[in-house]
Amino acid sequence: MSKIIAIANQKGGVGKSSTSINLAASLAILEKKTLLIDGDPQANTTSSFPVADDEVCTFTIDLFNYHKNTITPFETETPNLSLIPTSIDLVKLEIQGKNYFGTHHELKHTLADLKNDYNYIIIDCGPSLNFITTSFLAVADSILIPVQCEYYALNGLNRLFSAFKTIKQNYNRNLDIEGVLITMYDKRLAFSNVIIQEIKSHFRTMVFKTVIERNVKISEAQSHRKAVIDFDASSRGAINYLSLATEIIENNKTDEMNNDSLGKSLHKILEDTTKEKDLTTIFEKLPINKDKNSANYFSENYEKLIGLSKKDIITIFTDSYNDVYSDVWVFRIRERTSFFKKNYLYIHFYNQRVDRYELTVFKKRE
Ligand SMILES: Nc1ncnc2c1ncn2[C@@H]1O[C@H](COP(=O)(O)OP(=O)(O)OP(=O)(O)O)[C@@H](O)[C@H]1O
Ligand SMILES: [Mg+2]
Repeated sequence: MSKIIAIANQKGGVGKSSTSINLAASLAILEKKTLLIDGDPQANTTSSFPVADDEVCTFTIDLFNYHKNTITPFETETPNLSLIPTSIDLVKLEIQGKNYFGTHHELKHTLADLKNDYNYIIIDCGPSLNFITTSFLAVADSILIPVQCEYYALNGLNRLFSAFKTIKQNYNRNLDIEGVLITMYDKRLAFSNVIIQEIKSHFRTMVFKTVIERNVKISEAQSHRKAVIDFDASSRGAINYLSLATEIIENNKTDEMNNDSLGKSLHKILEDTTKEKDLTTIFEKLPINKDKNSANYFSENYEKLIGLSKKDIITIFTDSYNDVYSDVWVFRIRERTSFFKKNYLYIHFYNQRVDRYELTVFKKRE
């Protein structure tokens, strides 16, 4: 198995680089051959490794030129971990955009070759949805979104999701969401748990179980040009990132075994609106309240779902991509015109029967 994961959030300082470095090092420690790519001209990831100014190796900008040379990454001191560092030259690519070398197709070819040599390719993206970031999203298998545990954590995420959707529809149909990662959690702060609950109520199954705590060893390690696991293996930072790497390896095993499970593959829900379930059609199959003008039309029909079996639900909602073993199923639905047009119906089962349902609307937060 080989996977390209882009670490992205256009918000600055949320832990993208720290996550890229430490997740990549942890995957490597867990014996996954890993390539870390610094996709940000700020070069924070690069400066966390002892790369010399005149280092002879492949730099990120070279990945956009498929025909240039064979790729020779910088080999780090951590076994199984290689790095493609960046230089300020990457800014040129941003300025010249699509006219530089070629388009993201060159990058796609390069990464397709590199995929043969690694289990995981982790890309640290810069804090904007610019040409470089979108090029990486156009070639990645999934996106991991670090979200800092702070007030207004969710501000701006709608922009990221709409870019995700555009890229998915136009360039990369297979782009998936690896997960939303809560970073810099501080249990001493009373509001931290409230924020975690808010993030989880928005993103539900997309949120990683692992939470990255605030830990000074993470920044100390960076200033020593090391991943935290190589700097202080018993620190909370090292433990948290090792747990994240384990969770990702496990999730990908499950995805391989059961491609139809919801898991973190929310792309199926975010897919084209044509796949949306029209509840009025669905409710026609239910034996009650067919009067669409009735004020209770939706609420009464939702109630009718209570007590039905999983088989009944599959019959009603026809093609189902939910995991039959899971006790929570989710359907994207269209009810009335909603602001953001992303309504989800969660059906909770107990003893194989519908116990309750919940409706969620993705609210616009900007
Ligand atoms: N879990 C953590 N505990 C303590 N400090 C952290 C943690 N994660 C990141 N930091 C520190 O917070 C700062 C911002 O983190 P980082 O550089 O990883 O964010 P970023 O999203 O990559 O930023 P940018 O958008 O500028 O690329 C850094 O100084 C980093 O050392
Ligand atoms: Mg960064």
